[in-house]
Amino acid sequence: MHRFRVAHHKTIGSTNDEARRLAAEGAPDGTVIHADEQTSGRGRLSHTWFSPPGNLYLSIVLRSGQPPARAAELSFVTALAVADTVEALLPRQTRATLKWPNDVLIGGAKIAGILLEHADDATIIGIGLNVLQAPSNIAYKATTIVASGGIASVDGARDILLDRLGRHLDAWSRDGFAPVREQWLQRSYPIGAAIRANVGGQSVAGAFAGLDTDGALLLDTSAGRRRIVAGEVVPGDQAPPV
Ligand code: BTN
Repeated sequence: MHRFRVAHHKTIGSTNDEARRLAAEGAPDGTVIHADEQTSGRGRLSHTWFSPPGNLYLSIVLRSGQPPARAAELSFVTALAVADTVEALLPRQTRATLKWPNDVLIGGAKIAGILLEHADDATIIGIGLNVLQAPSNIAYKATTIVASGGIASVDGARDILLDRLGRHLDAWSRDGFAPVREQWLQRSYPIGAAIRANVGGQSVAGAFAGLDTDGALLLDTSAGRRRIVAGEVVPGDQAPPV
């Protein structure tokens, strides 16, 4: 069973940085850093993460005991836990969808982001969940729990998230990645959907062909099947991200 211990900060640079610092000092598995706001919140691909008070920002030190080669699977495990959390906070019929590798969307708008980092022998799982505040002036659509018809306190959202994450981590340790991959695919694009991936500054259009057994994105392009391990995905009818 996963047990989490939460250290709360009013304000911090980045909860991921603090978690890395503690991990280097030997912080145990399940150490959680939660902050009300971040002054230098970080997103994937060197983006900044909008971090005013009113949203959930937390990072978890994980020592999973699994081989390092499996650490990337945690991004999908975490996305399932965040999607469950969002659905628990929203009206009953609302469904969260997933966008590779680990965005959680409501009605096509991003409601949460996940930043996985590796620190020596630990994995840091950073999660930002928009409860009250959505960024503006960004290249994609964003939403919040409250704007999507939900009612939540930040601490309530945190407690649900840690509960769901504990359950998904236990299931992953016990049953492996295959069931995680199945559940992720059920909440993602339909197979064959037109998508576009931005890979190292290059935009690749194709049909979504699922996830490889290690979580890589499979894309059927005019030049054949591509395996994509890092990048950003947008619907096929949208301009490539800049
Ligand atoms: C993304 O780009 O989608 C990932 C965003 C991750 C943001 C969270 S907020 C808590 C943690 N601390 C950070 O600096 N980033 C992550």
